Amino acid sequence: MVNIKDIREALRIIRPFVHKTPLIHSTSLSAMTGAEVYLKGENLQKTGSFKVRGAFYKMHLLKDKKVIAASMGNHAQGVAFAASRLGIQAKIVMPVTAPIVKEEATRGYGAEVVLYGESFKDALGYAVSQEGYIFVHPFDDDGIIAGQGTVGVEILEELEDIDALFIPVGGGGLISGVSVVAKTLSPKTEIIGVQTESATSAYSSFHEKKIMDSPPLPTLADGIAVGRVGDRTFEIMGRYVDDIVKVSEDAIAMAILLFLERKKLVVEGAGAVTLAGLWKNKERFKDKRVVLVVSGGNIDFTLIDRIIHKGLIASGRIGVFEVVVNDVPGSLHVLTGIIASHRGNVLHVVHERFAGDLPVGKTRVIFTVETHGKNHGKEILSDLGARGFTVKDKS
Ligand SMILES: Cc1ncc(COP(=O)(O)O)c(C=O)c1O
Repeated sequence: MVNIKDIREALRIIRPFVHKTPLIHSTSLSAMTGAEVYLKGENLQKTGSFKVRGAFYKMHLLKDKKVIAASMGNHAQGVAFAASRLGIQAKIVMPVTAPIVKEEATRGYGAEVVLYGESFKDALGYAVSQEGYIFVHPFDDDGIIAGQGTVGVEILEELEDIDALFIPVGGGGLISGVSVVAKTLSPKTEIIGVQTESATSAYSSFHEKKIMDSPPLPTLADGIAVGRVGDRTFEIMGRYVDDIVKVSEDAIAMAILLFLERKKLVVEGAGAVTLAGLWKNKERFKDKRVVLVVSGGNIDFTLIDRIIHKGLIASGRIGVFEVVVNDVPGSLHVLTGIIASHRGNVLHVVHERFAGDLPVGKTRVIFTVETHGKNHGKEILSDLGARGFTVKDKS
């Protein structure tokens, strides 16, 4: 099993090629969560995620000059970057569902990209079946785990008395490496893994104490959409990880938005789960010193407007209200007047007159309204209700 010596050696090897990323104290996130929050900014790492650490170290250990890898995107970029620096030829298999931005970045580092299958599992199956290449596993490999563990060395060398480390979990390589470091250098530090509710193999396996498959659903956290944890990583997690929690897609959208707004940091869904995980467990970590590993920043910019919109709705800053009114002149005017009297800002209106479920003479209006937060939205809704309108919160 990987130990601290291996991880220190990995750090020595990769140091000239990758960034020592900043550990940032966040006053605003501390105030919002009640914990003392630090962020380990691996979104600012070369290639946009910590994945380059493991890929680089693993490929440094190889004698062969031809590698193949399967990835949703970040491991692909790590392998492609390392290959370009180490003079290795890299072929990367990505599922067709991988974000285009990650596909293009991988090509940009000079790797050959092959699109295969719908899921990571399909891409993995194809990659391991190719002859003439050394397969670089994205997580279930001692070299990869040692490389990812270097994130932990940097954190623990910089900050003392950490009560908890929050780490995103896909296949478990990152949490395995970091937990080996933490439990060696600071045994009292709790290791908390975070998964999305849409891909819970590590969560279920950890709690059931046996490896469980869990085919991922579509998720904002594509980087951790892995259907099965590794054998090695499962073993290490069972030994060193204290808890694994899961968070909703709405919570992930909210966390991405918070990073953008409060910290001016671009964080992808897989990297934002740690903030969502702390948020969900605020009481448990109140007044504790916590480090959130912000593992990547390779967000799909074609989706960012939808993610921000989802985050604004989830945090109550945009409300969607449905109101059924008499279909007579002036009804809309009355409704907008009430919303304006509460200083709600109407962003969008849909006026639906022909829906089959509406009685003749009634019309449905759907408002998208900018509000100050959930309570403000409730205040507008209850005033509309108090004035006799049939209202529904569709947020
Ligand atoms: C941004 C990001 N965070 C976290 C992870 C999870 O890493 P692991 O599969 O080692 O658990 C990944 C994996 O690709 C990732 O890309």
